[in-house]
Amino acid sequence: MTNHWSYQQAKSRFDSCLGGQSLHLAKETEMSGFVRLLATAFDDVDSFSYEKFNAFDLHLLTEYVSSTHKLYINKSLQEIEQWSEHCMRNMVVQENLKSQLHTAVRKFKVDTIEHIQEEESTLLPYLRLLNCDYNRLADYDSFWIEKSKCDLTKFHDEHEDEHLGLQEIDNIIGQLCKAGQRNFLIGMLEKKIKTFCTDLQIHGNIEEMVIIPKAVETERKLIQKYHKLLSKN
Ligand SMILES: [Fe+2]
Ligand SMILES: [Fe+2]
Repeated sequence: MTNHWSYQQAKSRFDSCLGGQSLHLAKETEMSGFVRLLATAFDDVDSFSYEKFNAFDLHLLTEYVSSTHKLYINKSLQEIEQWSEHCMRNMVVQENLKSQLHTAVRKFKVDTIEHIQEEESTLLPYLRLLNCDYNRLADYDSFWIEKSKCDLTKFHDEHEDEHLGLQEIDNIIGQLCKAGQRNFLIGMLEKKIKTFCTDLQIHGNIEEMVIIPKAVETERKLIQKYHKLLSKN
């Protein structure tokens, strides 16, 4: 049984489609199951078994990544930036701590947006191609061109943990608290950072532990299909 907060966190990225008119009932049921499982990951991020997400197909997992990226860009990153500015405006803080926090938040925002844009332009289009149904397969040459743009193994090996970027911000907040500045505003900023950190950690783990292995396997099967087709011609 997940707690309400975890469920809301998990559901927040699918709010525009869950409960709407556009979703087929079977699809909505599958998505609701995904949201419930995601909520259990929020409950216990460190000991959660990510292979449980293997029950969901690449299509839904790709939608999760895409809608979560939108949530980060449109809400989470902006909230962190706005709350840190709000804290600095309303607290008597040494100038160097102010500028350290400002720089760390800016850097984290730029790095995270860059990370997302990279995945949106290379990984996600390729995942969508891998997931297309058999009858709509792209021709072999087009597939190979797309494959050359996204090396799944390289993506896995070079994938960075974005949540680690929040540690610098967290350290500066620690210094503010040590300087006797712990108050409601700092408490809110800390809470937002903790939540975003958990979200990023789960997101990164799903990409690395679930999506990439699934995509590698789908890619292997697809290449087999192409070879069969080519050998018949
Ligand atoms: Fe991502
Ligand atoms: Fe990522």
